[in-house]
Amino acid sequence: MAGHTTIDLGHRRRFDAGERVFTENELGDTAYFIESGGLEVSRGEGDNLVVLAQLGPGEIIGEMALIDSAPRSATVQAIGPTELSIIDRQTLHQRLEMADPMVQLLVHSLLGRLRKASSQVGVGATESITREALHDAGVTGIHASARQSADIEARLRRGIAADELQLHYQPIVSFDGGETIGFEGLLRWPKPEGGFYSPLEFIDLAEQTLLILDIDEWVVRRACRDVAALQHGDLKPYVSVNISGRQFASQSFLPMLQRVLDDTGADPRRIQIEVTEGAMIESPQHAAEVLKALRDMGMKVALDDFGTGYSSLSYLQKLHANVLKIDRSFVLQMRQGRAGATIIRAIAALANALEMTVIVEGVETNAEALRLRGIGCDYAQGYGYSRPMPLEDAVAWLAKGPAQITA
Ligand code: CMP
Ligand code: MG
Repeated sequence: MAGHTTIDLGHRRRFDAGERVFTENELGDTAYFIESGGLEVSRGEGDNLVVLAQLGPGEIIGEMALIDSAPRSATVQAIGPTELSIIDRQTLHQRLEMADPMVQLLVHSLLGRLRKASSQVGVGATESITREALHDAGVTGIHASARQSADIEARLRRGIAADELQLHYQPIVSFDGGETIGFEGLLRWPKPEGGFYSPLEFIDLAEQTLLILDIDEWVVRRACRDVAALQHGDLKPYVSVNISGRQFASQSFLPMLQRVLDDTGADPRRIQIEVTEGAMIESPQHAAEVLKALRDMGMKVALDDFGTGYSSLSYLQKLHANVLKIDRSFVLQMRQGRAGATIIRAIAALANALEMTVIVEGVETNAEALRLRGIGCDYAQGYGYSRPMPLEDAVAWLAKGPAQITA
């Protein structure tokens, strides 16, 4: 009740029995977790009072006004001594904005329907959700982006089924003689109007759904089919494929690889699996077992984007990967005269000590190539040599002989 002493404990507040947390139709800026005690939720006054619910520890209260900026839908008061912890408007909104647009839309739709349903059964004042309130809550934008991501997902699903995806190949070249020792297979998805979707536009989305598992399998299968064509005389480069963390962690990963190798008859020694450290961090023990199984199957393993994540030295030693790919951001730092070269030199020394081959990504100029070779790197990948190309162009590339950087 008004006049009671509310003790503010910073992020916690304590209420006495009968004390009001807030009143129906007020504006609200705070939601709460119930830590202990209990709350009664009611509408109306005197003879018209309707108790809607009694809530206890672990429940959330006062979220509705925060989500859509409408006034409090009910009065809430403590049943006995009650402790609440505070969720402020900004925190809640930030969390909501971080959520997948589809989830945001669900939250707003459910809240809108809840308000409508309670007003129709005649509980309390009619509070239909206003256009302004929706606008305040940013729902118009959410609607557009939820639709867009659902649209891309549906198209991607159809694209996979219709075999619209393509795998392009970027050469991995020896600093020493310009020999192409491998290609990284990179996924391309053509737009109907020409050009390609950026992988940024669809890989994240695919990773949030199980679609990424189908995409990974498609990539492995394509690479295994193409690898036989990617040769010239004695030159038999490998194809390196990127595998998602979800695929890597899945029980069906190794059986899937074996099935694809059997179906395509591809030589496993010419297939390399690229995984990021991030994919292995959750379960290093499992990761080490999978990596061992891959090597036993005859495949090579590359740690991708090295240096950008945890870069744990103890894992590196346990994992026994064959190849370490140094992220392009270090070459960029080197180009800008920052610490990049020092870091690359240290990583290369470490990799050499662990008998891993080093590939540097993002190499663009001859001067960079010379410098990287001087600090212990073996191989390069980057626009300086070539952009990723369709299979036929990659075959033609091999026929041209040793690669050179023109820039
Ligand atoms: P809000 O509208 O901000 O303030 C009143 C709160 O009471 C509301 O958020 C919900 O947290 C809660 N509330 C409203 N209606 C009900 C209901 N029918 N059952 C349980 N809790 C409710
Ligand atoms: Mg890669």
